[in-house]
Amino acid sequence: MFFARARCYSSSMATDREPWGKNVLVELEDGIAWVTMNRPAKRNAMNPALIAEMKQTVEALATDERCGVFVLTGAGESFTAGMDLEEYFRQTDGAPDTFLLNLRRMNEEWQWRRLRDYPKPTIAMVNGWCFGGGFTPLVACDLAVAAEEAVFGLSEINWGILPAGNVTKAASEALGYRDALYLVMTGEPFDGRVAAQKGLVNLAVPRAQLRERTRALAKVLLSKNQTVLRGAKIAMKRCRTMDWDTSADYLYAKVSEAFHLGAHQNRNQALEAFLDEKRFRPGLESFPRTEPGSGER
Ligand code: COA
Repeated sequence: MFFARARCYSSSMATDREPWGKNVLVELEDGIAWVTMNRPAKRNAMNPALIAEMKQTVEALATDERCGVFVLTGAGESFTAGMDLEEYFRQTDGAPDTFLLNLRRMNEEWQWRRLRDYPKPTIAMVNGWCFGGGFTPLVACDLAVAAEEAVFGLSEINWGILPAGNVTKAASEALGYRDALYLVMTGEPFDGRVAAQKGLVNLAVPRAQLRERTRALAKVLLSKNQTVLRGAKIAMKRCRTMDWDTSADYLYAKVSEAFHLGAHQNRNQALEAFLDEKRFRPGLESFPRTEPGSGER
């Protein structure tokens, strides 16, 4: 832990120059950007206005020094109720070109093109309802923490549509084959505990502990070398679709890249501390060894 590049984060409130403030709220706190979808009266359903603001927010925070970890959540009792059924569907009836353009804007601009490859670590903090189109930003985030009480559903089948907007792709990436098919075909809702069991989120905690647990996870990520962290998460996403030879070459290249970007200093420090100074044992940090009777580690 002590090898991470030292970095000072400050907390601050938004200023007038920032793109968020209406449908998207951002709280900057000690390196964590809490990014909130903010249409609670509409259960944070994603409409074109929210998406436009979110796209600019995602872009702005990518290079904002105050954001070390990006946390995506929702205002009130919802994460997001998915796509806005009124603005995306009913209002584009009879206008298929507008419908498709809107869909593209929605998904490609901020979710799986930008957020999925974000230069900073991302966490979805699922506080409540998460339906349909909400699965794409959920899976686009690197990690996810849910409230046990949150309710998820691939509910498109109930609306006479199939899960487009890359929801099906997101579900197939984050869920096992049988679970993904079952949920797409039945639209059956499930809670945060089940989402954790299925691996759709990393963990679920009671809602009262959600923010604290997410903050603790964000702090772990902030303590790592950010260059290596970025390389590691992007590599994980890329290697999934590569064959073994290509993946091996790619990973060597990414290691070299990280070295050129300064990560070798961390590596050298860690090796010295472990091999020469014998004062660093990362494997023992979480699980201290106790010798019976001696109390020694
Ligand atoms: N698109 C547009 N509006 C939505 C919406 C959506 N996806 N989800 C909720 N809303 C709106 C409702 O129309 C309602 O608007 P109104 O107050 O102007 O009438 C408002 O949000 C509150 O919704 P309501 O259903 O009264 O809230 P609830 O707390 O009783 O239930 C949900 C919350 C999320 C369970 C319920 O709104 C729901 O099932 N939404 C649809 C979820 C879904 O299937 N999304 C996938 C779309 S593919």
